[in-house]
This record gives sequence, structure tokens and C-alpha cells, in this order.
Amino acid sequence: MRLLLLLALFAAVLPASAQDTTLAVASPSGTLRLTFALKDGRPVYRLDRLNRPVVTESALGLTLRDGNLGPGRDPGADPRLHLAASATRDVDETWEQVWGEERFVRNRYRELSVMLEREARAGGGVQRLGIVFRVYDDGLGFRYQLPDTREMVVMDEATEFRFPTEPTAWWFAAYQDNRYEYLYQKTPLGQITVAHTPLTMETPEGLYLSLHEAALVDFPSMTLNRIGTTALKADLVPWSDGVRAYVSGPFETPWRTLLVEDTPGGLVTNYLVLNLNAPNQLIDTSWIEPGKYVGVWWEMHLDQSSWGPGPKHGATTANTRRYIDFAARHGFRGVLVEGWNTGWDQAWWAGEGYKFNFTEPYPDFDINALSSYARGKNVRLIGHHETGAITDNYERQMDSAYAFSARYGMNAVKTGYVGSRLRTSPNGPDPNRVEWHHGQFGVRHYQRTVESAARHRIMLDIHEPIKDTGLRRTWPNLMTREGARGMEYDAWSGDGGNPPGYHATLPFTRSLAGPFDYTPGVVRLFYPERRPNNRVNMTQAKGLALYVTIYSPLHMIADLPENLEGHPAMRWLEAVPTDWETTRVLHADIGHYATIVRKDRRSDDWYLGSVTDETGRVLEASLSFLDPAKTYVAEAYEDDPAMGDWRTEAGANALRTSERIVRSTDAWTLRLAPGGGAAIRFRVATPADVRRLGPGR
Ligand code: NOJ
Repeated sequence: MRLLLLLALFAAVLPASAQDTTLAVASPSGTLRLTFALKDGRPVYRLDRLNRPVVTESALGLTLRDGNLGPGRDPGADPRLHLAASATRDVDETWEQVWGEERFVRNRYRELSVMLEREARAGGGVQRLGIVFRVYDDGLGFRYQLPDTREMVVMDEATEFRFPTEPTAWWFAAYQDNRYEYLYQKTPLGQITVAHTPLTMETPEGLYLSLHEAALVDFPSMTLNRIGTTALKADLVPWSDGVRAYVSGPFETPWRTLLVEDTPGGLVTNYLVLNLNAPNQLIDTSWIEPGKYVGVWWEMHLDQSSWGPGPKHGATTANTRRYIDFAARHGFRGVLVEGWNTGWDQAWWAGEGYKFNFTEPYPDFDINALSSYARGKNVRLIGHHETGAITDNYERQMDSAYAFSARYGMNAVKTGYVGSRLRTSPNGPDPNRVEWHHGQFGVRHYQRTVESAARHRIMLDIHEPIKDTGLRRTWPNLMTREGARGMEYDAWSGDGGNPPGYHATLPFTRSLAGPFDYTPGVVRLFYPERRPNNRVNMTQAKGLALYVTIYSPLHMIADLPENLEGHPAMRWLEAVPTDWETTRVLHADIGHYATIVRKDRRSDDWYLGSVTDETGRVLEASLSFLDPAKTYVAEAYEDDPAMGDWRTEAGANALRTSERIVRSTDAWTLRLAPGGGAAIRFRVATPADVRRLGPGR
């Protein structure tokens, strides 16, 4: 319908046609300028910032099986495109997130829409391609429209991103067996092979760019292929038959997005990707609750207990009760239980995931008793659905499994797709199908889970997911996902786990896509009796900072109750929120350090998290973000300045806590140990606090 209206508008505005055309629009404050041109029937664009090029002339278009809409692979074979219509409009609106890192988001852009058309080959009528550009002061989004009502097969996307000079990129290669679970390499763009997005870059001119996409609902994900040393081209992840996408027109592709900032911190607080997603579809969101959860989980990753049944089974009634009691004592809302349902005793990671049953608990997991026990303690069980990447088995059971979860008071489910490819079961409709997690097949599957879960009022936390492209705006029950190397790598990875610099890279890379279920919250960092070759690669103070530097509306407190109970970190873990009013970045150097502050959505408190790489450093943090009319108590969790150091057990555990009265005119000197960090809660002081701690400076 929207497309039809748009077409009517086009007809009214510009009935003329032209083969060589140039149209330009500036962002609302004039910072960015987008130029669209048709050159000899080929659509191209460029982007300038303050009159200097950010993207030089770059191709646009789609190649369909029955014709080229753009330069495509075979430009000579098709009649040329010409401009049939164009229109512009301005939008400035502010919307409220159901939950998020920023409560009110401003959506202010200038839009240019063009409709291109040409005669199809051999009298096939007229073919049309629409392109919509939204130009923000801090970035660009554009998408293709296929307005004709017909089935279409997309064989390629022509979109290019050509840069005037060679940027430095933080990236990892697409098309690998572990999906998105790789460490970032920092190299000149010329060394990229084919990269996943979001792709973060720094240009020689000092700009920070992030290339990604928004609203990926029914299309393959876009990866980026390098062409030359200064350019990238969209590479749509193919189906196993080589086709990139099957679409039913009228159709709109996801938005291609480019954030343009002059600081790395600007990327963190840039909400363009969310803005380009459709508004919330759920009428009632009262059942959606951000919060923290514990779980029968880390003990399996330490090999202390097992997912499958037997003497080491973790998901027993007694053990789950222990976690429920622990959660209830400390006000944590969720208890994740993995290994509760039948199927874990098969080779589920090697293709036997089709034996998983999502409504059948193991006999030693008394779901009736546990769900009422949890309810009585104001705690909720979180269901776990590991699919072993067998999608048809999950889709067959999904609706009944979510209904089952809801019946037992589990309002959240963590799903998992361990496996190098998505597959179907041997007895399923298509036993030989093998597809990438991030192709259109996978995107459609994940979308079905989100919509089905919403019907049953279930929040989702997706592991081995499709990357986040901001769909949480439209489906706010899609809370969080993995889609990167989580903390579990520190438990068992042969390469020793996630190095300290990774934590200072994540806010500027993976987290630009959206919430990340990193599963922090381990205070016992060394486990020599079980994991002699691994340890959690950070100081305790840094582990607490991650609740602020990594945004997720559901955050895990991963350690075992016996390690957490009585630990000085518990005060922070109980207090830190997962839903924020606003976010600011105080220090940013990608891969080296990051300090982020966020204000609680439900109180006047602020929380600061700061992380560094292997290098210890001193950072001065101005507290000017605090309300000048208020006095605060700063509850600080810091590395011991004398002995803090992630490398040794004593150094990593050297957590120093303190309290002090502070005001917005103060500064805080953060002394981060090598591999360390700092976590500070700023809560409004009571008169008793001031009496106890003194008036401050
Ligand atoms: C990988 C997930 O990331 C992890 O959280 C989960 O415990 C295992 N798969 C088993 O499903």
C-alpha cells in the first residue's frame, strides 16, 4: 500500500524521464550530502561530509534472474534504466523505546526517493526499481524497492562502497563454520577478503564509519566483498542453489546503512539502524521485562556438570532449586536451565539435533514442582531450546513449545543453533538441505521464531543467531542474542579465550548491531582443577564494568552461586540495571579502552563502566553527566592500583571497593590495571550518607 501511494506521488511530482540525471539532498543540518545520478542508464551515488568525499561514485542496483536493474553482471544485455519519478521529504520525530540503551530516540532525516524504469527484454513490459535514501546528519541509509507484483529471483546486488582513501577496518571473515564467533582483525581495508557487518572503519581523514544493514526480515544478510584496496561490494549470502534471494513483489530490501562520525564514541550512540526499522508491532508490551538472570549453565561450560542425563546431570530438580533460591535472595528475575529437555544424550552437535523434544523434560527435572517453586519466590525459569541447527524439527514444535513454556511461567526462552550450517532432519521434507545461518533461509527461520514467540508472550535470547539489524524496535520481545564470541570461550577455547583487547573492541563493533548476551558475571576467574589451560581473561573489576560497556536488556550473572554468595561484587551485581534512560561515551579508542556511562531508566542513578586492553592506563573522567542539583554517593569497584593485573590470579582478584561523595563538578581518576577496568554506581546521597562519608570536595 505504501509503495502504491509513493508511486502516485512520483507520478504527480515528476512525470519526465531522463537517462542522465543528478539529484542531491543534504542532511537536515547540511553535514552530509547525498548525490544520486543516472549515468548512461546506470544508477550511482556518492556521499560527502562537509564538502569532502566519504563515499565516491559507487554503483547501485540489483541483478534479477530475468534482468539487470543496475549495472549487474551484463550491462550490455538489458535496455537502460531511466528516471521515471523522484520525490523528497523531511522527517523529524522522536519515539520511545519499550526498553533500550536510550529511551527517546530522535529520527531526523531528509529522504530522496527515485523510481527507475526500463523496457524489459523481449517485450516483457516495464521493469521498475525504486531506491529510497535517508540522509541523516550522522549517516546514510538506502534500500531498494521492487514495486511490481510478481515473483523475482535475485542473483546479485550491485551496491558498492568506494572510499577516497584506504580506511583501517576491524573485521572478521564471513562464510566460516563458527558463524560470527571470531576475534576481530585490525587491518587496512585492502586486506579484507569478505567481511561480516557491522564493519567498523577509521579513515585517514579521521572519520569513523560503520557499514551495516537495518530491518533484515526476508532477505539474505549482506556481507562485504573487497574490490581493490579502497572499495567494498555487497555480497548477499546465497542459498545452497546459488540464488541470493527469492522475493515476492512488491518488495523492499533491508536498508544499507553507513554511520559517519568523527569520534568512535559517536558510533556507540548513533541510533540510525534502529530508526530505519519499522515501529513496534506489539500492542501490549507489559509482559516484556528486561532484567538479570542466573542459570544452570557455567557449571556445564566448566565440565563440572553435564547437559545430558547421568551422574553429572546439571538440570536436576535439586540443583535448579538451588539457583532459584540464590536468584530470589538477590532479586535476580530469571533462572536459565539448560539440559532440562530430552535430546541431549544424542550427538546433537553433529546432526542429531532432530531428536530434541522441547516439551519433554528429563525425569529428574520436575517442571511442575519447579515452576510453582519459582513462582512462589517471584523468580521465572528461562527455557532453553538448543536446536542443534535442525530447523524443521524446531519449527514443527515451536508453537507448542512456546505454549508449553508460557504454561510453566517461563516468559523467556534462549534458543541455540550450534552447527556449521542449518540443516533439516533426515525424516524431514528436505533431508539434504544445508544452508548458511545468515542466508535468506536462516533469516526466515529466525523471523518465524520471533513472531511465534510474540504470539505466546515469550521473550527471546537467540544464540548462534542471525546478526542483529535493529528488529527489536519492531519486535521488542526479541531481547538479545549472541552473534559473537561470548564469555564461554574463556571456559574452554583452545586459543585461551577472549583477550583483553576484545572487550575494548566490542562496543565499537559487534555492539553497534544491537544487544549482546555476552554472559558476564564470573568472579572466580581461575579454575585450575577443571580448566587448567583456561581462565576468564580479565580482572574482577573489568568483569563488573561489562554490564555497562556491553548493552543487553537481559544480562546474565554467570558464576556459580557458591562463588558469588558473599562476594563484594554482589552489591554491584544486584544493583546494576539493564534498561537505560540514556547513554554517553566518555573515553573511546577502539581495541584499547572504552568508558561508557548510562543513566538508569527507573531512578536518578548513573552507572559507569570502563575497560582497557592489556595495557594499564589512567583516564580522567569528568562527572559532568551527573545532575548538578544533586549530591551522589559513588560506589566504586576498581582494580587495586598497586597489584591489579589480569595476568596473575592475585592481580586479577585485587578488587578494591570504596564509597565517596561526589558532584557533577568533580572528576574521577580511573586507574585501570593491565586487562582491567572499573565499575562505579552513582546513587543520589541521603543525609545519612553525607553524615557517614563527609561532604565531599
Ligand atoms: C552455545 C551457547 O552459546 C551456549 O550458551 C550454550 O550453553 C551451548 N551452545 C549449548 O546450547
